[in-house]
Amino acid sequence: MQDLIKAAMAARAKAHAPYSKFYVGAAMRDEHGQVHAGCNIENAAYPQGWCAECSAVAHLVMSGATRITEVAVLGNGDVLCTPCGGCRQKIREFAAGDVKIHCCTEMGVLLKSFTLDELLPASFGPENLK
Ligand code: THU
Repeated sequence: MQDLIKAAMAARAKAHAPYSKFYVGAAMRDEHGQVHAGCNIENAAYPQGWCAECSAVAHLVMSGATRITEVAVLGNGDVLCTPCGGCRQKIREFAAGDVKIHCCTEMGVLLKSFTLDELLPASFGPENLK
């Protein structure tokens, strides 16, 4: 888990968040054990910004991976930073319900781990469209 947290911290350092000043880093392990990270990227046209998890998912998919097996997220300070609702759904696309989402302080200390099912119960996913 430490490699994942370190990657999320390094990604957070690259966050482009001049408006909220809330810097977020996320890292996701894929089915091959590779780690993909991302930061939030805000925009002067506010609604055009996006979340750290979104950047991480994009990196994971662009690597050719198709599954998320573990996630770490951290924001400012030591307040619990869970993925927003939209990001929970983005993770859901590639993750099983038992996938762990580790929420850490900005210094990388684990605060609380959730399963995706805990954060997004009774979710809608790819299976619904089969
Ligand atoms: N943010 C994320 O990057 N991930 C989340 O799950 C929660 C919110 C970002 C979006 C915005 O740039 C800033 O945090 C404040 O909402």
